[in-house]
Amino acid sequence: MGRILLAEETLEPSYVPPRLIRRETELKLLTQRYRETLAKGVPYHQLLTGGVGSGKTALAQRLGEDLARAGKVGSLPVLKLYINCWRRSNDRTILLQLLRGVGVSLPDRGYSLSEMLDVFEQGIRRAPRHVFVILDEVSALVRQETKLVYLLSRSPEVGLGSISLFLVAPEDVLPYLDAASRSSFGVTHRLHLRPYAAEDLAEILAYRAEIALRPGSVSPDVLDQIARVAGANGDARFALEVLTGAARAAETEGAREIGAEHVRAAKGSIYPTVTESRLEQLSDAGLWVLLALARTLGGRRSVATTDRVRETYRTLAEEHGVRPMSRVTFWRNVRELEREGLLHIDPPSGPGEGNRLSMDEMPASYLTTLLEGRVGGRRGRKT
Ligand SMILES: Nc1ncnc2c1ncn2[C@@H]1O[C@H](COP(=O)(O)OP(=O)(O)O)[C@@H](O)[C@H]1O
Ligand SMILES: [Mg+2]
Repeated sequence: MGRILLAEETLEPSYVPPRLIRRETELKLLTQRYRETLAKGVPYHQLLTGGVGSGKTALAQRLGEDLARAGKVGSLPVLKLYINCWRRSNDRTILLQLLRGVGVSLPDRGYSLSEMLDVFEQGIRRAPRHVFVILDEVSALVRQETKLVYLLSRSPEVGLGSISLFLVAPEDVLPYLDAASRSSFGVTHRLHLRPYAAEDLAEILAYRAEIALRPGSVSPDVLDQIARVAGANGDARFALEVLTGAARAAETEGAREIGAEHVRAAKGSIYPTVTESRLEQLSDAGLWVLLALARTLGGRRSVATTDRVRETYRTLAEEHGVRPMSRVTFWRNVRELEREGLLHIDPPSGPGEGNRLSMDEMPASYLTTLLEGRVGGRRGRKT
């Protein structure tokens, strides 16, 4: 039978689709803000927040490419530089990537941050451009004491030419910045992407299927089914992973079309990747709370009271020699995890009882193994 995945690479996370379904308003607004401000020769900075799979990276990349492709703004063209700040990034590693982006390179060691910035400035000056810098997954970076965000956000004052920042994070990271950098992100320079509704996901899936799959290989009903499966979290990444998995399952079977059972099979087999990609985006505090919940639930229990989970948490913190967070912070993290769809909060079952926490998506034992590896790997960093 014929193939279904005719352009599988367009379903990869790194592919930036030409259009962003149901994010047209946001894209237009951002394009306009950048173009208007840059046209006056002034840089513009923006923070974009939203849950996993809400389209943050896609929106940032689309905006950058559109700005770069539209030609000169004022007297200068726009250069887009995309950097993912997740794994072990720091000011130096990011600056090295920025240097490469403007076509200069320096050996990894032996230069101070300010020397590197000088070279960056020379790189920009050699071919003057508005530099549009996307710092994706920027949470971990701003929690360390980054000087780079400060320097880049004050580019005109520090003599760096026109550099505009586009910060992307799951949550508001501005409180971690110093007052001066924060002030360059006025109240209007923040945008939060709401999770996609199932209807949005269905439309996104139809559009992406059109690009990636053989025409007629997936019916609207099946797309709706995938949208429902992923709708609980409004996560387009998960939706596309299910679509890819289902298409593969159908191909393997030699089916002409993707059917409902292919979707179910796909959904069942991709929890590990989804889970890991979500865990990567969690703060350390979130990881601890989730680990405490997984430990408390163990193999048998299906719900546990918040107090009980917090007790487990305190033991864990002691084991690992970290200072426990306060009750308020703990509860705030519980609520954030609920918003991310990683746990559920149920009201007390009776008078004098606390809220009850549960997690039905994956086995607690599996999550415990995964999280313990992750928390171990992150030790030594600030929480
Ligand atoms: N509005 C949209 N239209 C088409 N594809 C989208 C849209 N939003 C997200 N996607 C796709 O869904 C996946 C997840 O989006 P992504 O931008 O990586 O989410 P986030 O960075 O918020 O976790 C990517 O493959 C992206 O191309
Ligand atoms: Mg992203």
